[in-house]
Amino acid sequence: MKLAILGTGKMGGMVGKRLASAGYDVVYGSREPQLNTDKFSDYGNISVSSYRDACRQCDVAVVAVPWAHALPLLMSQKENLVGKVVVDLTNPLSPDISYLVVPAMSSAAELIAGALEGSKVVKAFNGITADNFPTPDFSGKPAQVFFCGDDPEAKGVAKDLIETCGYQAEDCGALSNARYLEAMAMLWLQLAFWEDKGSDFSFRIVQKGMPALQA
Ligand SMILES: NC(=O)c1ccc[n+]([C@@H]2O[C@H](COP(=O)([O-])OP(=O)(O)OC[C@H]3O[C@@H](n4cnc5c(N)ncnc54)[C@H](OP(=O)(O)O)[C@@H]3O)[C@@H](O)[C@H]2O)c1
Repeated sequence: MKLAILGTGKMGGMVGKRLASAGYDVVYGSREPQLNTDKFSDYGNISVSSYRDACRQCDVAVVAVPWAHALPLLMSQKENLVGKVVVDLTNPLSPDISYLVVPAMSSAAELIAGALEGSKVVKAFNGITADNFPTPDFSGKPAQVFFCGDDPEAKGVAKDLIETCGYQAEDCGALSNARYLEAMAMLWLQLAFWEDKGSDFSFRIVQKGMPALQA
């Protein structure tokens, strides 16, 4: 399976390197492929290409660009993504990171799904930060990475990618629940940066009365 990571920034960089280390063949999409190739020169199975070529080559695309630029980029690549799984890890944050810029009854993931009717969109990885990403263990357990979607194949791919990165995949149901996964990321940011909780934490679902599942 060939993975395209769209965007060579902090989060895309971490996710692509981790998956390449696990053996995935990764192609980055970039506005400036030549300028960004050196970042990945330690990885024989990573190449950097234009967004168009990355979308053409891949089986699965991970959207790792700022939300403000995601929809125009994806709409320009719509034909190249038909039939493919698209993993959305964006958070639709306001410029000052104080609120979500999508309507309450929608989400970045749903807007992407609406724009890419022929693709299989799944939300994943938006609740873990780039800085924490390389070290999945929190208090001795892998952190949970929440994902949601409406397409079973896309959800299966997301689960595999999450587990390959060393995290516990937590299925959060329908794609419309991306509204709440994006809100959870906003809460994480508020706690980390405005409520002085620091950034060394993640959210976890624990089950009452079923200690085995809490392990
Ligand atoms: N950073 C985190 O901890 C984190 C965690 C979870 C989710 N996210 C989400 O991941 C996405 C990327 O965040 P990031 O922190 O990785 O951002 P970033 O470091 O700024 O990187 C974003 C990348 O997007 C690409 N891009 C494409 N069009 C662009 C444009 N017009 N202007 C600017 N960049 C453009 C750029 O790659 P090229 O120059 O190669 O085109 C850039 O390196 C965001 O949606 C964010 O909400 C981030």
